[in-house]
Amino acid sequence: MTRYAHVTGWGMAVPDRVLTNAELIQTIDTTEEWIVSRTGIRERRIAAKHETTASLATKAAERALDGTQIDAGDLDLIIVATATPEYLFPATACLVQDMLGATHAGAFDLSAACSGFIFGLNMAAQAIRSGSMERVLVIGSETLSRYVNWEDRGTCILFGDGAGAFVLEARETPGGVLSCVMRSDGSGGDLLSIPAGGSRFPTSLETVHKRQHTIQMNGREVFRFATRVMASATREAAKRASLEMDHIELVVPHQANLRIIEAAARGLHLPLDRFMVNVERYGNTSSASIPIAVCEAFEFGRIRPGDHLVLVGFGAGLTWGAMALEWVSPERPVRPGVRPRHRLLTLFAHLASLARRVWRRIEGLIWGASSESSD
Ligand code: UT7
Repeated sequence: MTRYAHVTGWGMAVPDRVLTNAELIQTIDTTEEWIVSRTGIRERRIAAKHETTASLATKAAERALDGTQIDAGDLDLIIVATATPEYLFPATACLVQDMLGATHAGAFDLSAACSGFIFGLNMAAQAIRSGSMERVLVIGSETLSRYVNWEDRGTCILFGDGAGAFVLEARETPGGVLSCVMRSDGSGGDLLSIPAGGSRFPTSLETVHKRQHTIQMNGREVFRFATRVMASATREAAKRASLEMDHIELVVPHQANLRIIEAAARGLHLPLDRFMVNVERYGNTSSASIPIAVCEAFEFGRIRPGDHLVLVGFGAGLTWGAMALEWVSPERPVRPGVRPRHRLLTLFAHLASLARRVWRRIEGLIWGASSESSD
């Protein structure tokens, strides 16, 4: 039996706080005209103090699960693609696993910056197609606002916060993930990075003073690289899926800059209306940008069952990739009563997690007492 990996659920979560260009021009030397004409961005979302990469990821995941026939406890694996994890370790994916109550799932983070969601989807699809897994949750989640230097006008205008999630399930019906292209070029690693805080430059007074914990970017070089790879990766993914460009109903590109998307459209000889664009409202949300764009494309009626899509992204690393999909899922049949049920399951998951923490403490005390008495 041939197995296929289908997207059966999708969801997004963005913070309520909107940061407009009008607000930004009060604090840095820029203009509304410059930002809009060079990037297409008009506003972005900024996480509130209580919102984190894991909390946004969990919210997006709950929404993705809401549209499926499964619960968090049925998941085999959770992959969180993120460039802004909560900690170096534990993985953000483990925090999400705990918050969802996905007690049978393995969980890990994937670090491929803005290409991370595509890379994660490909890993999930391979695990499903090989027969080793049935249901995988893939999330792209970011709180980039915490890593931005708000005095650097070359970067702070670009980034925003948010999360998007897909549930992938094994099916016998042909379709779902058709092909994927994954590429990297580490020689360009210095073009876009957060230099300090890792083992190369551990946190010190000097790294903090030099603002090396914030995003550093050579925008012009990243721009040149992006315009080179977006069209070629899209073409390659389509070719591997035996699809003519004319048969692709929608291209969902990484939302970094409207000019990069326009260049990709020119390179592919496709009209811009064949591309999903929402960069004007969210800015660049890195690994979250593609799933957020897919969710909105669905909401705006731009994806119908049977459509062929190409998702295409690029980012720090350097990394880039594209994935062709046949969207076979029925139009979002939200199960009646599913939200209250999921909320109840989440509450149980939190209680069970608390119980495990308490039990771990008690066990530790008992173990400590017994090892003391045997000394
Ligand atoms: O997910 C991947 C993440 N990164 C990206 O996708 C970034 C890709 N790069 C870009 O999107 C663009 O390169 C930027 C939007 C970052 C910059 O646009 P650009 O057209 O490449 O501008 P530039 O870097 O060539 O700079 C042109 C001028 C410079 O002034 P001088 O040196 O010519 O006098 C900059 O200092 O624009 C200046 N500039 C600004 N001016 C007003 C840079 N940022 C700003 C600003 N407001 N915010």
